[in-house]
Amino acid sequence: GKRMTVPAIRGRKVDGTTAEPLVMLTAYTMRTAQLLDPHCEMLLVGDSLGQVIYGLPSTVPVTMEMMCAHGAAVVRGSWHALVAVDMPFGSYEGSPEQAFASASRIMKESGCAAVKLEGGEAMAPTIAFLTARGIPVIGHVGLTPQAVNILGGYGARGKSEAEAAKIVGDARAVADSGAFCVVVEGVMETIADEVTRAIPVPTIGIGASANCDGQVLVTEDMLGLFERTPRFVKRYDDLATRIGEAAAQYRDEVRGRSFPTADQTYRPKA
Ligand code: KIV
Ligand code: NA
Repeated sequence: GKRMTVPAIRGRKVDGTTAEPLVMLTAYTMRTAQLLDPHCEMLLVGDSLGQVIYGLPSTVPVTMEMMCAHGAAVVRGSWHALVAVDMPFGSYEGSPEQAFASASRIMKESGCAAVKLEGGEAMAPTIAFLTARGIPVIGHVGLTPQAVNILGGYGARGKSEAEAAKIVGDARAVADSGAFCVVVEGVMETIADEVTRAIPVPTIGIGASANCDGQVLVTEDMLGLFERTPRFVKRYDDLATRIGEAAAQYRDEVRGRSFPTADQTYRPKA
């Protein structure tokens, strides 16, 4: 099979409706990508790897080197899904030219087909600049974690009418500039619904609305592998408990000399 393309993703929304919602999950490693790939239209190498993989306090310190290295691993581990890589904080906000230099480096070093960047109207000229030069862009509006120092936290956005209107305007600006889909994160449901009706390209919700044209979650959150679990995460498994149990059993067997057994030991053939 052939990998999902940008026009195929964009084309899933026809005349304002998406018959079957798009499935997106984050991946940071080759093996996780392999396991998720058959089930997803898109894999996102999110800058959430800052917290999830590197133990950083936010996505602000995430570097280009991290995004390129993990992006390449995810591309190597996938064959069906479109791989999109987050542009890290500081790599694109300065100017469209800066964004082009960073995005093209991410695409060259990782092999990904698209980048994602946070922001609304302020980023519209940059999105137009990139898409006119061969770089497909995913927008990201609402709760934009790279702006945590402006926002003051990770609470849901759009609780006032003015803020709601700003988020809808941001989504419109991003879509008008050529983004082929838009992540809508951490907003009141009514706003996500309004954005989904307002823009012609697919919306990908996270803490948004079931009416979005697709959904995304951080895989480690969904698997119960990360300690922080925001309200909008559904836990589909509890891998933290299962890993702890496996490690405890290994510990007991090592201390009791019941591991390794003959099955795991090289001996001369009898
Ligand atoms: O970094 C990330 O994982 C993201 C998704 C939550 C949309 O941006
Ligand atoms: Na992100």
